[in-house]
Parts: sequence; C-alpha cells; structure tokens
Amino acid sequence: MPHLLVAGGAGYIGSHTLRALRKAGHTAVVVDDLRSGRESAVEDAPLVRCNVGDRAGIDRLLARYGPFDGVLHFAASIQVGESVANPLAYYQNNVLAAANLIDRALHHGARAFVLSSTAAVYGNPETQPIAETAALAPVNPYGAGKAMVERILADVEAAHGLRWAALRYFNACGADPAGGLGECHEPETHLIPLALEAAAGLRPALKLFGTDYPTPDGTCVRDYVHVTDLAAAHVAAIEGLLGGGPGGAFNLGSGAGLSNREVIEGVGRVVGMPVPCEDAPRRAGDPPVLVADATRFRMAYGWQTHHSDLETIVQTAWDWLRLWRAL
Ligand SMILES: NC(=O)c1ccc[n+]([C@@H]2O[C@H](COP(=O)([O-])OP(=O)(O)OC[C@H]3O[C@@H](n4cnc5c(N)ncnc54)[C@H](O)[C@@H]3O)[C@@H](O)[C@H]2O)c1
Repeated sequence: MPHLLVAGGAGYIGSHTLRALRKAGHTAVVVDDLRSGRESAVEDAPLVRCNVGDRAGIDRLLARYGPFDGVLHFAASIQVGESVANPLAYYQNNVLAAANLIDRALHHGARAFVLSSTAAVYGNPETQPIAETAALAPVNPYGAGKAMVERILADVEAAHGLRWAALRYFNACGADPAGGLGECHEPETHLIPLALEAAAGLRPALKLFGTDYPTPDGTCVRDYVHVTDLAAAHVAAIEGLLGGGPGGAFNLGSGAGLSNREVIEGVGRVVGMPVPCEDAPRRAGDPPVLVADATRFRMAYGWQTHHSDLETIVQTAWDWLRLWRAL
C-alpha cells in the first residue's frame, strides 16, 4: 500500500482525508505547524510539527519518515478577504511554501502530488455550472496563488514526471458522520457553521450579504460538498495517480446550487431553532452563482457524492459543533 505524506492533516479537510486514507489501508504521516489545525485531529497518525516552507525541516522529515509514494497538500491560508489585505503572506504560504514542498518531495522520490485547489481560481465565470475548461481568472490573491501552484505542478510534471491532481473544491462543509472530526476555523467565515453558531446563540444575528442578486430568491447560490465526499475523492485521486490514472485539474462539487437563504432555512429546520439573520448589502467580489460541473472527476474515478444533501451536511456539522463547543 502507498505510504503518504499529508501536509495540513491537522486541519478540517486534511484530517477527514487522513482518516479516510488510513481506513483504506494507507500509511500516512502528517506535517502541520498547527497554526490553525488541532493535534487531536490527526488521531494516532505520526505528526511532525513543521512549516512546509521550511526546507531543512521538510528534508529532515522526508529522510526520517520517507520515502513517500505521494503527497496530499492541504496546508494553506484560507481566507479570501485576508489574502486581499495581506497578499504577500498568502503568496508566501500558499505558493512559495507549496513550491518548497513540491521540490523536496520530488527530490526524495515522491511520484504523485494532490493539491487542495479551489473554485476561486475561476473568479466570476459567466457560464454555470463551471467546467475545468473555463478560463482561470481569479479575482483575489487566494485564488491567484492556487492557480499558480497548479501551473507549477503542470510544469514540474512536464519536466520531471511528477503526477499531479489539483482538486478544486467548491464549498466544503459537514463533518464525519462517525464523529470526532469537524470544522473549527478561527475566525469562522463559512456560512453553515456561522448559521449554526447563530442558531445556538454563540454569535449575534447572521448577516445575509446581498438579497438583490439575479437568482431565484435574490441571495447568492453556492455548491456545497460534504467533507466526507471530498475525503473519498482524495483517496481515489492519489490511488489513481499512482496507478497511472488521469491527472490535472478536477472540480469537486455536488453539481447542485443552494441559495444562502435555502441554507439558512435548512439549518433552522435541522436544528429545530430559527437562525437569527439580518439582510445586509452585497459584499464586493461575491459572484451571484458558483456551481461545479464535476463530470471530469466522476468519469475518471467513478466518484459520487453520498453525503452532500443539505440535511446530512447540516446534521453532521451540528453534531460536531455540539461536541466541540460542549453544547
Ligand atoms: N474549506 C473550504 O471550503 C475550502 C474550499 C476550497 C479550498 N480549500 C483548501 O483546502 C485546504 C484545507 O482547507 P481547510 O478548510 O481544511 O483549512 P484548515 O485551516 O482547517 O487546514 C489547513 C491546515 O494547514 C496547516 N497549515 C497552514 N499553513 C501551513 C504551513 N505553512 N506549514 C504547515 N502547516 C500549515 C494549518 O495548521 C491547518 O492544520 C486549503 O488548502 C484550502 O485552501 C478549502
């Protein structure tokens, strides 16, 4: 079975994927500097506390725990607004540190690399649902940085044969139905945990940014994909790349759009409490609709979503929040 390095495995999506990889029989080592992750999320996998941009530290890790067949790279800074305010910090952590990890992994014999990419590489595309053939036109440093790393991976494959996949997630959400893992971003910027926290009285009324978009109910429409479905996609991707399957960029989404208002109503329904909510003006840079066409990944690897319906997403996120916040 492949031996894998999971960078950022103490974070939200990385920890779910780590669990899925180990369940599938892979051995895995986590590298994470715990700037936003939690040590307990790696469970009993080996954890090396190190910045992926630290060349000497990564070399020591690779010499001690390697060689690795493949690397899954989740370690990044994830807030779009912060990336606009502090672009250099984002290019440093999301591009330069990633290039370092790619370089050292290649040097130490890795054959495949899976990158956590994002729908933000597309910017504000006109055509929905979005296929991978859509132009890359990011509108913020976060999305631009991810697109740069995709380009680096394509060039490195052409020169050195490192197989790669960039998994462009749309809105990751939910928590492992088996329990014990979930989303705990600080600060939280994602709609579902914000709505749950507002319903639970942990934060003031949720602001609904923009109610006059050209969408059926006037609020933005997004594509929500359950983290357990994302984790399964990573297992398929790394196994596929190592087995000679197709690589490149793949969208990961449910293919169904949900409006902000539908999500907020769904949260209220599942938790049995209304979500305090107030209308607010549009935020700059929010496209009205972002929905994935994930056909390419489905066709390549037979991937299907099994948990990405709103009820399952909200119920699992709620179960996690109650555990985490001891509600
Ligand atoms: N959450 C989403 O909806 C979403 C959507 C699209 C893409 N993504 C991408 O998925 C990946 C994971 O996101 P997440 O929501 O799990 O975030 P997260 O903050 O929960 O996890 C990121 C992990 O990486 C670690 N980390 C960050 N920089 C590091 C560094 N330089 N060295 C070592 N460790 C470092 C953090 O400590 C954390 O454990 C990110 O690359 C993000 O850009 C997330």
